Amino acid sequence: MQTPLTKNIKPGRDFATLADYRATGGYEGLRKAVTSMESLQVQQVVKDSELRGRGGAGFPTGLKWSFVPMGENAPATKYFVVNADEMEPGTFKDRVLMEEDPHQLVEGIIIGSYAIRATSAYIFLRGEYHLSAERLAAAISEAYDQGYLGKNILDSDYSLDLYLHTSAGRYICGEETALLNSLEGKRANPRAKPPFPQISGLWGKPTIVNNVETVCNLPHILYYGLDWYHGLGRGKDKGTKLFGASGRVKRPGIWELPMGTPIREILEEHAGGMQDGYRLRGFLPGGVSTDFMLPEHLDVPMDFEAIAAHGSRMGTGTMIILDDRTCPVEFVLNVERFFSRESCGWCTPCRDGLPWVVAILEDLIQGKGRPGDLDLLHHQTRMMGPGNTFCALAPGAMEPLQSALKYFRDDFEKYLRRPVLAEAG
Ligand SMILES: Cc1cc2nc3c(=O)[nH]c(=O)nc-3n(C[C@H](O)[C@H](O)[C@H](O)COP(=O)(O)O)c2cc1C
Ligand code: SF4
Repeated sequence: MQTPLTKNIKPGRDFATLADYRATGGYEGLRKAVTSMESLQVQQVVKDSELRGRGGAGFPTGLKWSFVPMGENAPATKYFVVNADEMEPGTFKDRVLMEEDPHQLVEGIIIGSYAIRATSAYIFLRGEYHLSAERLAAAISEAYDQGYLGKNILDSDYSLDLYLHTSAGRYICGEETALLNSLEGKRANPRAKPPFPQISGLWGKPTIVNNVETVCNLPHILYYGLDWYHGLGRGKDKGTKLFGASGRVKRPGIWELPMGTPIREILEEHAGGMQDGYRLRGFLPGGVSTDFMLPEHLDVPMDFEAIAAHGSRMGTGTMIILDDRTCPVEFVLNVERFFSRESCGWCTPCRDGLPWVVAILEDLIQGKGRPGDLDLLHHQTRMMGPGNTFCALAPGAMEPLQSALKYFRDDFEKYLRRPVLAEAG
């Protein structure tokens, strides 16, 4: 079974019902966990699986869980929160998982919650995901009816309540500490770390925040075991991943493939290659907050370290294609407008720097650029680089800009060579 996450998604079927889900081993991973394993054993299995978070940063899931206080002296209240905000442009992998097989996520949440002995769990869902909300709400209700949620799950000593919360809607709500503030009813500004959420998260209690796709791996790791899971990846990273492509490819979409699948295979075989009349100039490997890669990188495998070794990040694994008829400068302006609008305004470099970047790019495109503008843009990428802002939104926003300046410098300079159309004010 090579596609555990999407095996229940079938052409001609609306979505996997509870009966469909159970017909392929659904809720058996949970049964195994709560009836025959201690919470710490579940943690150990997930640690040994080497599952890495699918929300963008690739942090090892079992290691993250191990920071949560356990045992008799641990706080009585703990939370397990699923990050289903998915506002990264070009990314729609979590939506597919939630709409098409909602019970998979529900089962994963109960397993993750059991592993840290959470008392309540939350799904923090992107507000526009109406169909996901409807299907998840129905799945949660069915899970209560079947004894998978509520008091004494499957007659064990473990009890859990699961709540669905729809976001009021900002990109920053996907940052895990801003998400927790939002869930508490506060303004969605990121929190200072430390303390990390594992120690002091939602309402000051130990909290795990994991991405939807990460959590959807858990039932299968528990049910099918470590050897099977380790056998799925093709590179260093384990398991499968939902990879995607959007832009001028013949078949935009997402596909569940082994971790470590070469980029060329994803773009040429699964996405069908470029549309007629278009050539590939570059691509962002995982949403807009990653660095551009080039056609010369097509044979790099999609795993966290291989992509990092080539100057980018796997991010969400859903690629955005830059074709040869799209201006990279306009592409980047579009992206920076998004980030500028979504800045939460909490820290100065991001609040003021992003609109400044947008203004420079707009001037450049309108023929009002000045000789020092490219150096100034480069300077901005350093000012908003890692460590200079309160959260990772601004450094993420600088990744497509810094790599475009590196790889497509001629396209930027072309605008400086144009005659000035109007005097800058
Ligand atoms: C600005 C910003 C937006 C983010 N948006 C999301 C998101 O929509 N979904 C998500 O899972 N992680 C998002 N993240 C990453 C989360 O902060 C966090 O690392 C992730 O939910 C952890 O889950 P994982 O360990 O399972 O990957 C975002 C991070 C930043 C800085
Ligand atoms: S980097 Fe931007 S989004 Fe993050 S805290 Fe600062 S202002 Fe807010």
